[in-house]
Amino acid sequence: MLAKHPAYRIICLDKLTYAGNLSTLKPVMDKPNFSFVQTDICDREAVDKLFEEEHPDIVVNFAAESHVDRSIENPGIFLQTNIMGAATLMDACRKYGIRRYHQISTDEVYGDLTLSAEAKPFTEKALLRPSSPYSSSKASADLLVMAYHRTYGLPVSISRCSNNYGTYQFPEKLIPLMIVNALSDKPLPVYGEGLNVRDWLYVEDHCKAIDLIIHKGRVGEVYNIGGNNEMRNIDIVKLICKELGKPESLITHVTDRKGHDMRYAIDPTKIHNELGWLPKTKFADGIKKTIKWYLENQKWWQDIINGEYQHYYKKMYGNR
Ligand code: TYD
Repeated sequence: MLAKHPAYRIICLDKLTYAGNLSTLKPVMDKPNFSFVQTDICDREAVDKLFEEEHPDIVVNFAAESHVDRSIENPGIFLQTNIMGAATLMDACRKYGIRRYHQISTDEVYGDLTLSAEAKPFTEKALLRPSSPYSSSKASADLLVMAYHRTYGLPVSISRCSNNYGTYQFPEKLIPLMIVNALSDKPLPVYGEGLNVRDWLYVEDHCKAIDLIIHKGRVGEVYNIGGNNEMRNIDIVKLICKELGKPESLITHVTDRKGHDMRYAIDPTKIHNELGWLPKTKFADGIKKTIKWYLENQKWWQDIINGEYQHYYKKMYGNR
């Protein structure tokens, strides 16, 4: 956004939970049109104060507890941040006025699909049938966003993306976890048989879609942002081994995730027809770029995996 819209003032509001990291913002911290505020989106007083001082005209809510496995262990914080946090931000938008509130949602709100070719990717009209505490909290927030639009006339939009991958991704997610483990010759923990399918979207393609929606997307609408790139987990992990020259014998099949969704797939025709967006990055190129970034930025992820993350890793994977 800073590169594309140099005249914009961007304020990043972040609680800096375990998943947030100030070193991620290092490349932009010194830019005159960028500022960072450490705040919880659930902290009404702090959010109101920020709106009072800054009067933002567009709010994009990326803030969420986002990891399914953690939501299975501890749902409460997901409900708090993902639902109450969205409500708190939208209340501030109502109070101070706004041009657009945009909610970053997920394809997981539609629930899963079977592997059958007959099971067609979800359009925006599909029912919401979330499976995990995480996806239920995101679906709840989506309902609330639409309710604020209808009830208070808040100018909202929602986008539902498929699985992101790329630079700066916290190493609890499949792709960075496998890259980081493979680099240290550690076991690669594949849940069950690894036959689950996800639709992978390069993070910069996602960002471009959000930029289009907040400027040109219609108010009150939902847009699917899919990668047109369905792949089985096991194939991703094997590809990472190949790219890094590591043996597939590192792959370890571990106990499956509870309620594990089989397949996610969404149809991005609406955003293509209305806004001309298409995912540009081919997976073969995106994964190479991602691996290169993790190779060149070892300090970034070493600091993470040497910290609090170690406890999580031992708890989650220790006896699998
Ligand atoms: P994840 O990155 O957690 O995203 P999501 O659950 O939101 O799709 O997981 C992607 C897929 O990879 C999912 O099917 C679970 C699987 N997975 C593993 O097999 N092993 C792992 O260690 C992790 C984190 C995920």
